[in-house]
Amino acid sequence: MQVIFIILHDPNQADCELSTASVLPWIEKYRPTTLDEIVNQHEVISSLKNILKTKAVPHMLFTGPPGTGKTATAHAFARDLYGDGYIKDGLFVEINASDERGIATIREKVKMYARSIPFGNVGFRILLLDESDQLTDDAQHAFRRVMEQFSSTCRFILVANYSNRIIEPIQSRCAIFRFKPLTKTDVASHLKKIAKAEGLEIDDEAIDAIYDFAQGDMRKCINILQAASTLGKKVDEKAVYTVIGYVSRGDVRRILEYAMSGKFVEARDALRAILYLQGISGRDLVSAIYREIFALNIPEELKVELLDNLGEVDYRIAEGASEEVQIMSFLAKLAARSRR
Ligand SMILES: Nc1ncnc2c1ncn2[C@@H]1O[C@H](COP(=O)(O)OP(=O)(O)OP(=O)(O)O)[C@@H](O)[C@H]1O
Ligand SMILES: [Mg+2]
Repeated sequence: MQVIFIILHDPNQADCELSTASVLPWIEKYRPTTLDEIVNQHEVISSLKNILKTKAVPHMLFTGPPGTGKTATAHAFARDLYGDGYIKDGLFVEINASDERGIATIREKVKMYARSIPFGNVGFRILLLDESDQLTDDAQHAFRRVMEQFSSTCRFILVANYSNRIIEPIQSRCAIFRFKPLTKTDVASHLKKIAKAEGLEIDDEAIDAIYDFAQGDMRKCINILQAASTLGKKVDEKAVYTVIGYVSRGDVRRILEYAMSGKFVEARDALRAILYLQGISGRDLVSAIYREIFALNIPEELKVELLDNLGEVDYRIAEGASEEVQIMSFLAKLAARSRR
């Protein structure tokens, strides 16, 4: 799922004092600027700090899942090395390989940048090749030559989600840094910091819900928080579920409990409210039930049976069967089994 922000700004409004910072998406506003601000990734950060001390910078390959700080770390490293003017002074440039995947980019852009000798006392520039796993094999081979030719005047930082999509000869010329998905504790403390700066109140359930959905992808977590904040200053589980289009755990549990205690009319009404009032899709609800089954206080054998039934329901809905009928039939089985 993608969260898209539209921020309306009326320049004619007399009392409009929006600073640039307040119209920035929070992932930009709270982008780490120095290595010390990168959350987690301790091994990566401590090696990079050692490199900064000696200034012996190797070519580097940053790999890892989305939203874990690879691009941000590359920028922070360059700023720590060259100072605030790292981009303005032409010491650091970023090329995104997914915009220009072909060999022409490598030949022209990269070569042109890499060959010129920088001013100042550092002796080399840094070229960040973002999303380099998008480069074709030919382009990667061309790039490998460039790396060899210009390594006295330029260091490369390649960023990729999958290191196995980078050809072996490039990998072997780089120091490889692996970024990990962020832990829940890291995400929680970072989100709390942002919430505080934005004057929001956020509770632990809301953070749990964000993390359940976005896992260790900090970018996604921050985007969800920003989207949820548009609903009010108090960010709770409900607000989070609303923006991610999830059904709340409480609602799911209520339906399951109605069914287990034989209250079918109530179960059906609650089900209809979720499907037709909240507009949650049947398959999303099945996924939510799936997650909730594990937390139910019922015998393990029953859980196994229920998961089996739910798999069937999921399949039938995917094949076009009625969502309401299928989920009700699941609830009926749940009722029958829990009475045994
Ligand atoms: N480790 C982190 N510490 C602090 N903020 C982070 C971290 N990781 C991600 N973020 C936040 O998420 C935003 C996106 O991070 P970044 O662009 O560095 O991710 P990425 O790893 O390069 O992802 P992708 O693989 O999608 O390019 C950052 O601007 C920052 O706000
Ligand atoms: Mg990136």
